[in-house]
Amino acid sequence: MPDIDDASISRFYENVPFSRKEFFLKGSSSYDWGMKNRLARIFRPSDGRTVMLAIDHGYFQGPVRGLERVDLNIVPLLPQVDALMLTRGMLRTTVPAMAQNPIVLRASGGPSILKDLSNEEIAVNIEDAARLNVSAVAVQVYIGGEYETKTIHSLTKLVDAGLKFGIPVLGVTAVGRDMTRDAKYFRLACRMCAELGAQFVKTYYVPQDFGTVVASCPVPIIVAGGKKVEEFEALKMVEQAMEEGAAGVDMGRNVFQSEKPRTMLDALNHIVHDGWTADQAMEFFRSSSEGSLTSTDARDE
Ligand code: 5RP
Repeated sequence: MPDIDDASISRFYENVPFSRKEFFLKGSSSYDWGMKNRLARIFRPSDGRTVMLAIDHGYFQGPVRGLERVDLNIVPLLPQVDALMLTRGMLRTTVPAMAQNPIVLRASGGPSILKDLSNEEIAVNIEDAARLNVSAVAVQVYIGGEYETKTIHSLTKLVDAGLKFGIPVLGVTAVGRDMTRDAKYFRLACRMCAELGAQFVKTYYVPQDFGTVVASCPVPIIVAGGKKVEEFEALKMVEQAMEEGAAGVDMGRNVFQSEKPRTMLDALNHIVHDGWTADQAMEFFRSSSEGSLTSTDARDE
C-alpha cells in the first residue's frame, strides 16, 4: 500500500527555512558540488586547515634522502596527514588503494635538476586524474622564469580541464635561483595563480609581510616547507604562517628528513589544528620517542 501523503504531519517543517550553509573555504563559495567536496576532503571543514605531506620530489630530483623507499618510509605516516601530494607513478605503484587520504596529484613535469626547471609541461591527463580519484592536481608556475608563460598556460589548461571534472588545481609558486624571495614577489605570483583560476595556492613563507600575500590572494594559501632546517625553525615558520592567515602546510623534507617524522607530523598537526605555539610543539617533539620503521612495521600498517 502506498504511503499516505498527509500534509498535516509535522515532518515537513514548513516554518523552518531551508538550510543554506556558506562553504567554509575562502573564495570557494561559487564552485560546483564536486569541486567543493574535493576541497572539503583536503581542508578540514571544522577549521578550514590542512596538513599536507609533499613527497613528489622524485619527479625532478630522483630518490632524495628520506624518499628512497616510499613504501617503508612514507606509507606508515599516512594516518597522520590530511592529504598526500605525489606523482601518479608513486601513487599507482606504492600507495595502497585502501588509503583514505585525499590525493593531490603532481600534474606538471619535464626537466630534471640538471636542466632549467621552469621548462615544465603538463604531465598528466585530467581523465587519468579522475580515474585515480584524486582530490586536486598541482602545477608549478615559474613567475619571472625563462618559461613563465608556458607554465602559466599549463595552469590555465589544467584549470579548464579541472572545471569539467570538478577537480581543483593547486598552483605552486616556484622560485628560480636568481629571484628575490620577498612578499612583493609572492603577492605577484600567488595573485596571478588565483586570478588565472587556481582554487588554492602553495607558496613560501616570508618573515616580512607574509600577511599581505595572504590578504591579496582570494583563495586559500598553504606554505611549503623548503629545505631541511632544525625542527624548531620549521615549527616556528609554520606557527607564524598560520598566525598570518595561511590555511595550512604542504611540507616535505622537514618531515621525511627529520629524525622523527611521525613526531614531526604530530607537532605540525598540533600547531595547524590545535593552535599550539612552536615552543609547545618543540617541547612535545623533544620529549617524544619514536622507534625506527622496519619493513614489517610498514607492511602491517
Ligand atoms: C616543489 C614542490 C614540492 O612538493 C614541495 O615544495 C616540496 O616540499 P618541501 O619544500 O617542504 O620539501 O611542490 O616542486
